[in-house]
Amino acid sequence: MQFDFPCEVIREGEAVLAVPKLSAFKREPWEYAPCKAPVFYNPVMRLNRDIAVIAVQVFQEMIGRGIVIAEPLAGSGVRGIRFALEVDGVEHVYMNDINPLAHKMADYNVEMNGLRGRVTVVNEDANLFLSRHSAPNKRFDFIDLDPFGSPVCFLDSAIRALKDGGLLALTATDMAPLCGIHPRVALRKYGGLPLRTEYCHEIALRLLIGALAMTAAKYETGIKILFSHKTNHYVRAYAQIIRGAGNADKSIRQMGYILHCFSCFYRETVQGIAPLLNGKCSECGSPMKVAGPLWLGRLSDAAFCERMENKALLNRRLDARAKRIILLVKAEADAPATYFVIDKISDKLGLTVPSRERVMKRLVQKGFRVWPTHFHPCGIKTDAPASVVVESVRQLAR
Ligand SMILES: C[S@@+](CC[C@H](N)C(=O)[O-])C[C@H]1O[C@@H](n2cnc3c(N)ncnc32)[C@H](O)[C@@H]1O
Ligand SMILES: [Zn+2]
Repeated sequence: MQFDFPCEVIREGEAVLAVPKLSAFKREPWEYAPCKAPVFYNPVMRLNRDIAVIAVQVFQEMIGRGIVIAEPLAGSGVRGIRFALEVDGVEHVYMNDINPLAHKMADYNVEMNGLRGRVTVVNEDANLFLSRHSAPNKRFDFIDLDPFGSPVCFLDSAIRALKDGGLLALTATDMAPLCGIHPRVALRKYGGLPLRTEYCHEIALRLLIGALAMTAAKYETGIKILFSHKTNHYVRAYAQIIRGAGNADKSIRQMGYILHCFSCFYRETVQGIAPLLNGKCSECGSPMKVAGPLWLGRLSDAAFCERMENKALLNRRLDARAKRIILLVKAEADAPATYFVIDKISDKLGLTVPSRERVMKRLVQKGFRVWPTHFHPCGIKTDAPASVVVESVRQLAR
């Protein structure tokens, strides 16, 4: 190989790739090797890419024509190469990275996978690359934004570079701000306040989508969320871009706030950018804390998820974890915002923890709807009020 740092050849999906030999760059056990290597490749994100391949395949079939894809932050090129090899109907893939070594490695990998002519590799700033594709005849059908940390500084140029009806996938790994550890950072980047509740990961995803909705609205563009998930250290959304001022207004109407009572688990959602917020919990009178403005609309589209599920179940090589995430996300597509975490309630009550299944069964017996959530292994979404969920946990612990 023509690289002057340790490399190895690996297989991921249908791609065979040269990537940095991560063990050579990890000096201390706590170091995160992908960030130490001269070119970025993270094997842990394979699950993210496996799900992306399925989502893009379903999207291509949905629009029923050849698609052009862009990956503005490509690293080793693994993602773009997998799209070219594993998704039917891909006409061309553009991969870009600002790092000259990543450009060289991605180019090498394109050659190794016999994709010369179908995949173009570019070496410039992602915003510049996307802006050069903002003219109507140069736009993409699908853009995958997979940055270090937050994707917000690439949102404007990505929206401008997408065709009407195009798909934007975006990953955010800056979970400390998004989950409320650094609320001022989240406010600066996402234009909304996070909250350190037991469902902070859902709030993180809703803040990311909210920032996208408000950015798209500037370009008289609305969004429809087809799929989204929280996995490992990141949140990820797949949003269809729909041009038109009316669609932008419709998206803005799905913005709002989540109010949370840390005393009794009561929570409520309030639609609107500037609504009157009730400062007191209507159950126990404690002061309510606020998250938002953020996206209160659906986090996934049930029909799109069902098509993903069908694809996933037919794919014998797909990791069981990817299948489970798709299954759970589909099942909770129509569930209300926020979820309850059984351990958290038991902890506060000082009681033993009943299983999620038993609590769900009890809530159903009481006439409420329930959904397990992919966000948390002990999480339940339900239309039951907090007081009923807390009482059910108490009864089952007795
Ligand atoms: C998380 S890695 C991408 C990983 C890749 N998408 C994958 O699936 O393996 C982020 C990449 O963005 C690149 N990058 C950072 N800032 C950039 C910028 N302003 N323009 C273009 N590339 C940039 C980095 O060099 C790095 O390779
Ligand atoms: Zn309360």
